[in-house]
Amino acid sequence: MTGWVFAHRPSNRRRNRWVVSLLDVRPTDRVLEVGFGPGIAVAALVRAGAGRVYGVDHSAVMLRQASKRNAAAIREGRVVLADAPVDRLPPALDGPFDVVLAVNSLAFWPAPAERLAELRRRLVPGGRIAIARQPRRPGATAATSQDAAHEIEKLLRSAGFTRLDTRVLPLRPPVICVLAAAPGPAGGHMR
Ligand SMILES: C[S@@+](CC[C@H](N)C(=O)[O-])C[C@H]1O[C@@H](n2cnc3c(N)ncnc32)[C@H](O)[C@@H]1O
Repeated sequence: MTGWVFAHRPSNRRRNRWVVSLLDVRPTDRVLEVGFGPGIAVAALVRAGAGRVYGVDHSAVMLRQASKRNAAAIREGRVVLADAPVDRLPPALDGPFDVVLAVNSLAFWPAPAERLAELRRRLVPGGRIAIARQPRRPGATAATSQDAAHEIEKLLRSAGFTRLDTRVLPLRPPVICVLAAAPGPAGGHMR
């Protein structure tokens, strides 16, 4: 039921597609999504032309839904999804990756600063990360989204990311996405 809401709420779909549009992925990019839910961003990444898309989510229900949504791309070998928590990534998902993203997922991770540092080590030098959040608690406002952005910026800096750039999608409440890069030559390209 929750997965159905994630997949069908118009703001969820817009949020995921917007985050993917910010990443301007290329056919050579290996992309990892953490907490893919029903797989909306995975499907958008495939449509956008990402070379290969990997994903982990610790919910078997979400894995089933996302696998159904992306069945053709999985058959073609363009998408690999696994049922695993962010703190125990399966060896097949060791990387290195060009891009990592997480949409409304980081707030649920254990020790998020440590997780982000681990993800940074799985990125190529100059590889990119996008952490997005749209607060879902009742009464959330633009200020709630701003607070979330500041918290994510702080976590990314403490995990060793550089070149932070925060974007806003003006929904109610707004979606914020903090883009950043692993240290190294700027291999990244963001819209
Ligand atoms: C609010 S949903 C967002 C789903 C999707 N990213 C979206 O925006 O529609 C959060 C997702 O993160 C997953 N998740 C939460 N904690 C996780 C963890 N520690 N490791 C892996 N996945 C996790 C949940 O199972 C869920 O699918």
